[in-house]
Amino acid sequence: MNRRQFLATASALAISPRQVFAGKDGIVLRAEAVTQQILPEGDGVTKLLGFNGSMPGPEIRVPRGQRVAIELENGLDEGTAVHWHGIRLENRMDGVPILTQDLINPGDTKIYSFVPPDAGTYWYHSHYISHEQVARGMVGPLIVEEDTPPDIDHDITAILADWQMQEDGRLTDDAFADMHSVAHGGYMGNFARAFLSQSTARIGDRIRLRLINTATNRIFPLAINGVDGMVVALDGMPLTDPQPLTEVVLAPAQRADLIVDVTGPVRLDMPTRQGPYRLADIKANGNNTARPAGPILPLTPHGLSTPAEPTQHLTLTMMGGAMGGRHGGDNIWAFNNTSDLQPEPFGSFDRGETVRMTMVNDTSFPHGIHLHGHHFYEVADDGSLGNLRDTTLVDAGQSRDIICVFDNPGHWMLHCHMLSHAVGGMRTWVNVA
Ligand code: C2O
Ligand code: CU
Repeated sequence: MNRRQFLATASALAISPRQVFAGKDGIVLRAEAVTQQILPEGDGVTKLLGFNGSMPGPEIRVPRGQRVAIELENGLDEGTAVHWHGIRLENRMDGVPILTQDLINPGDTKIYSFVPPDAGTYWYHSHYISHEQVARGMVGPLIVEEDTPPDIDHDITAILADWQMQEDGRLTDDAFADMHSVAHGGYMGNFARAFLSQSTARIGDRIRLRLINTATNRIFPLAINGVDGMVVALDGMPLTDPQPLTEVVLAPAQRADLIVDVTGPVRLDMPTRQGPYRLADIKANGNNTARPAGPILPLTPHGLSTPAEPTQHLTLTMMGGAMGGRHGGDNIWAFNNTSDLQPEPFGSFDRGETVRMTMVNDTSFPHGIHLHGHHFYEVADDGSLGNLRDTTLVDAGQSRDIICVFDNPGHWMLHCHMLSHAVGGMRTWVNVA
């Protein structure tokens, strides 16, 4: 079986583990090795990393605006740290070794405690040797619940992931740090999957589908069959005007929330040149005739500050990689002729300052650039403020302007979320004082 056929194999159903709700004693997350049936039943099992016995880790659900405490136990035989992707939290809880915390050594524990200010779809993942720990499965959903949730019948999370896997279910161990892939599109699985928190619904149900791309490098185009609906949020942030649902494209770390009406069996497919690759199914069991037809309304608006006139305009140029030009950095990839984290930040901002940043992709590959601790506006083609995001996809040879109110003090990473590119040097940081 060659790689291409493997990627074309229809996948079995995968249901992700139970949810954990924040109680008064908080939540315990144990990072550990897990063994799971990822290939269809009857084929070999896969050794992964995960949390509390499963990959993805449990779905953490917390109310907006209330403090949550998560005790992270390191049950691995190497160090780790966990990042709460997209949450505008206190810098010292951001989970970045060296920049914001010490590494959590094997057997050690750290309590992460923060107040999530925004309702929406977030996720958590390892932020140490993350091109490998995330690719091996150290990911999980983090759902911040609305004060007033939308009127739906089911709230379903879909975790997208891919792996380079052998026919017997073993991961290809030497693939994570392969320098050829680091210089190209990065670690890219030959097997992909969406883990759903629920896999049945009735025809006529209105469901919220929270899509989270946890893959380290793969950009997922998604076709969702058997539904009719709208995109209501991106990267956790509600859209003022929900957008009609056509094909959804998610770069690594990006999320989309859909509210859809079920019209038949639901299929989540990734279109490929060989045809649709099935990622997950939601079976249609019976009919819901009780739900009155009605428009899909926007979610409760976010409470982010409105940007002022920018006081700084910075340019972040992505450089390097295969078929890229020379650059001044000392790794495979660079921003502005500099690879990896340097003692000096790429940008220094006063707390509350509005900054415009032009992200120029001067390479032959797309990059999904993530800023920690903040959301920013993508500037639309007509110059108006577009969607709020925490990760923006910039295609090869393209550029994108963003506008960000840097209102969260601390040291924040700014890096490519194609994690092979990040380990290859495409990472920097900013300082908000
Ligand atoms: Cu999702 Cu620096 O991470
Ligand atoms: Cu990249």
